[in-house]
Amino acid sequence: MPATDNQRDRAHDDLQRAAREHLLLHFAKQSAAYAQPDAAPGTAAADDLLILARGEGPYVFDTTGKRYIDALSSLFCSQLGYGYGEEFAAAIGRQLRELPFNTNWNTAHPAAIRLAEALAARAPGDLNHVFFTNGGSESVEAMWKMACEYFRAIGQPERTKAIARKNAYHGVTLGALSFTGVAGFKDGFGTPPIDVTHVSNTNAFRDRREDEDEAAYCARLLDEIRDAVAAAGPDEVAVLIAEPVQNAGGCLVPPAGYWAGLRAICDEHGILLVSDSVICGFGRLGNWLGIEQEGVVPDMVTTAKGLTSAYVPGGAVFVGDSVAEGLFDPATVLRHGITFGGHPVMAAVALKNIEIFERDGVLENVRAREPHLRAGMESLRDLPIVGDVRGRGFFWAVELVKDADATRFDRAERDDLLRGFLPHALRGAGIIARADDRGDSVLQIAPPLIADPALLDEIVAGLRSVLVAAGERMGLAR
Ligand SMILES: Cc1ncc(COP(=O)(O)O)c(C=O)c1O
Repeated sequence: MPATDNQRDRAHDDLQRAAREHLLLHFAKQSAAYAQPDAAPGTAAADDLLILARGEGPYVFDTTGKRYIDALSSLFCSQLGYGYGEEFAAAIGRQLRELPFNTNWNTAHPAAIRLAEALAARAPGDLNHVFFTNGGSESVEAMWKMACEYFRAIGQPERTKAIARKNAYHGVTLGALSFTGVAGFKDGFGTPPIDVTHVSNTNAFRDRREDEDEAAYCARLLDEIRDAVAAAGPDEVAVLIAEPVQNAGGCLVPPAGYWAGLRAICDEHGILLVSDSVICGFGRLGNWLGIEQEGVVPDMVTTAKGLTSAYVPGGAVFVGDSVAEGLFDPATVLRHGITFGGHPVMAAVALKNIEIFERDGVLENVRAREPHLRAGMESLRDLPIVGDVRGRGFFWAVELVKDADATRFDRAERDDLLRGFLPHALRGAGIIARADDRGDSVLQIAPPLIADPALLDEIVAGLRSVLVAAGERMGLAR
């Protein structure tokens, strides 16, 4: 029997209560996450916690029954949306009956082996080896440990430093946090254990000079990295890590030739090049590892999120032949392990995910629809609040500005716009997207990779209506 409105309201209220009393939210101001008692109805402060209870295709439904387009794929994870539960449940059921669990600590099981083999077959170049984790931060830390073991094995233990980029997010567990360059995220948690130099990211909208073409901008960014390597000591740098398209700051696309330049710098100095593809991998940019379009092969690639399309948690580090050779050195022990890394259920789900991607043409869908989404996003440039539009694949951002000179909103305006108005208006419009100002103010989307043109149009139309209202609120003339 379907629930009555009354029953649903009671269940909704009880979940709000139980969440407030017992559930600590990630990356959230706990005190502001719930409806404020004295808030005026219809305002952002009156919004209760968004509790999503059900998914269907690219849609999610909250506990009041309201439907949303999940235009963020649940934080860049739900590549397939929510319609494949039966298939994944069958794969999980088979695995649970056969072998619910075993580790990859000096033993193995068929699911992890078959998954490693399948991933290696789809990875570019010699990325033939896979180490499993449970998520992105674990992948980044496992990458670092493997890099260190490799350098010890080849007699270069003094390589203990890394280069990463400003404002990049590589995770927040204490090791991964060293690589993260977002201002303020490290404060108060002690000195980061890894010595990381943060260099400029690829924000052409803000940082490319007027007299620079794309090639000159790229050359300047690469020169800065050469200088950073020289300052750190070329023989002391182990790893250079970057995302193919940087998320924090709003889908920062690299200039042409940037990754070839990174590869050349790393080759010159014996540094390992790492692509952090936790977001960009598994179809987000229309290919497996999010790096193939750059025409270079990194030494390692960190992944998570889309590996399983988030039907269960999982992560993986892809390791190239030469690093693996170091790990196979007879004197080397890889002193790193995670009990649940490569869990059989995760492996069964990830294998099913690959099968579905190939059967249903998921990568092809992203590649075929990218021009359509690009055109839709670019059409938002006529709005005065939109200063820039950037992205690739199914991963896009608009940067929000105050005027035609791209003036930034100040702190109070950002609080109002990004933490008040936009979440409220997006919710009203039935769209899940991300308003963020870890760098400049941006609104981001990352639709499920199964989205068709009609859904993409609906998302763009929803963004337009929300951004028109945002512009009016901030006093911008049309
Ligand atoms: C590029 C990148 N690396 C690492 C991480 C950390 O992943 P997790 O939250 O699964 O630990 C994230 C998370 O969003 C990420 O975007």
